[in-house]
Amino acid sequence: MHDHIDRVLIDEPKLRRRVTELGEQITADYQDVPELVLISVLKGSVVFMADLIRAIKLPLAIDFIAAASYGASTETSGVIRVLKDLDYDILGKHILLVEDIIDSGLTLRYLRESLLHRGPASLRICALLNKPERRRVDLPVDYLGFDIPNEFVVGYGLDYNERYRNLPYLAVLAPEAVRLH
Ligand code: IMP
Ligand code: MG
Repeated sequence: MHDHIDRVLIDEPKLRRRVTELGEQITADYQDVPELVLISVLKGSVVFMADLIRAIKLPLAIDFIAAASYGASTETSGVIRVLKDLDYDILGKHILLVEDIIDSGLTLRYLRESLLHRGPASLRICALLNKPERRRVDLPVDYLGFDIPNEFVVGYGLDYNERYRNLPYLAVLAPEAVRLH
């Protein structure tokens, strides 16, 4: 299954250390909040989410939302549709939106705006990865794991055509593999 991996970009210890730091930062920032609700953007953020919640030492709830953009698998078209909505009402809640990677920023901008319409007490964004070179829209990112170069990455929840999500590290997919599919 490692045939198309070009190189490891972020190994397991480095991921673990950064997720622990993010958890500590979130724990400190939300000390006075009665209940924090983390919303994981499916599916890419589930591995990050699972590790992150265990690094946050506060009472919290979790929920999930799934969105997809129309178009090719490695590029977003900017037209987003919600495939699975939240289970719970977020009116008056303190929300932390958890995403795997911010590329153009279009997916998160859409989700952020649509969730803001539901009247949360606060809404912040926590993303594991960010590709600054690819950003097409302004987006406030409150908690960020790593800035990465403009390459297609897989592993630690991130996929290419649904594969590689179970790699425990973050890897760069070989460019020829992207073309092959
Ligand atoms: P955006 O709307 O362009 O910011 O795209 C965000 C979504 O595209 C992410 O949630 C991922 O699902 C996907 N994506 C963007 N870049 C990568 C990558 O390098 N590897 C895997 N998925 C990616
Ligand atoms: Mg995703």
